[in-house]
Amino acid sequence: MTFVIAGDCLDIMDKSCMTACPVDCIYEGSRKLYINPEECIDCGACEPVCPVEAISQEDDVPEGKEAHIEDNKAFFSEVLPGRDAPLGWIGGAREIGPIGVDTPMVAGLPKSEA
Ligand code: F3S
Ligand code: F3S
Repeated sequence: MTFVIAGDCLDIMDKSCMTACPVDCIYEGSRKLYINPEECIDCGACEPVCPVEAISQEDDVPEGKEAHIEDNKAFFSEVLPGRDAPLGWIGGAREIGPIGVDTPMVAGLPKSEA
């Protein structure tokens, strides 16, 4: 089980979640943030601090936004545009800084479909 950031984060990127996370496992793309499912300890500290309620537990993602469950994983397990290897296990968002790209799914999302 892990927590997931859905499309409500798109183009908002408040980042309060990053500050709240005790294990620094929330990574910054270009238009939204992503939780590393291998690093999240499921503490839930990020969920209440998001002003647009973009974060929920994997099995509690709102209807119609389920694609973000796999997409959060894909951000780390698939090769992102412009990179030559998956991000994988990183061990800290602050150290690596903004990744600067999104998954193809998120990159193609109009705001209205978030
Ligand atoms: Fe996004 Fe909410 Fe975090 S808007 S950056 S998920 S606090
Ligand atoms: Fe961090 Fe939220 Fe997981 S605070 S440990 S990403 S539940």
